Amino acid sequence: MAEIDLMRFYPRRSGRAAERPSITEEDRLISRRFDKSYFDGDRRHGYGGFTYHERFWTETVKLFRDHYRLPEDAAILDVGCAKGFMLYDFVKLMPQARVTGLDVSEYALEHAVEPIKPFIRAGSAKSLPFQDKSFDLVTAINTIHNLPYGDCLRSLREIQRVTRGHAFVMVDAWRTEAQHRDLLSWVLTAETMLHVDDWLKLFEKAGYTHDYYWWIVG
Ligand SMILES: C[S@@+](CC[C@H](N)C(=O)[O-])C[C@H]1O[C@@H](n2cnc3c(N)ncnc32)[C@H](O)[C@@H]1O
Repeated sequence: MAEIDLMRFYPRRSGRAAERPSITEEDRLISRRFDKSYFDGDRRHGYGGFTYHERFWTETVKLFRDHYRLPEDAAILDVGCAKGFMLYDFVKLMPQARVTGLDVSEYALEHAVEPIKPFIRAGSAKSLPFQDKSFDLVTAINTIHNLPYGDCLRSLREIQRVTRGHAFVMVDAWRTEAQHRDLLSWVLTAETMLHVDDWLKLFEKAGYTHDYYWWIVG
């Protein structure tokens, strides 16, 4: 189990707390539907346009492959795969990889990148429809914090159950009160946002023994 920044090549904007227009509870309710408004609507409800760009995942999937020494035909599950962009780049890098994606958003799945559509399905992180030890790598990037605490715990147990090799989760977190304030003013969809020490306690409670990193605003 390690804290490791495997998302270091993923482009990030700085000063994001300041960038987002001030958001209301109604905006959050709209965002949490994870429909067109969240992916391809106004920025106050989410991404403001969620389209594929090579620069987002290309270097990150190489890092995953190399760090975990994945075999060419690795079985990879992405929990909260959205439109399948990361899996698409995995397949470009490792054409023999057996990729699977799962997301709660019907909209994202319908608008997924075409070659990945056959490999993704609707479902929730809290109950993964896969056998024990099915995957060499399971990722859940900015996904499980969208569930309330109890379901977040369940989803960690599920990730632990279905991997036979590695797993990596990234979650909204903070270390300082200033980061906490920035996160609260910026966040749209997350339901479980914890201090890093409380995340570590949750990982332990779930029996989650794999890797993680933090999405810290500010
Ligand atoms: C911030 S986006 C991240 C998407 C992608 N992992 C990435 O890093 O680009 C969060 C994703 O989690 C999905 N999601 C939210 N709740 C979920 C749940 N209970 N189970 C599975 N996916 C969920 C959303 O539909 C959305 O695609």
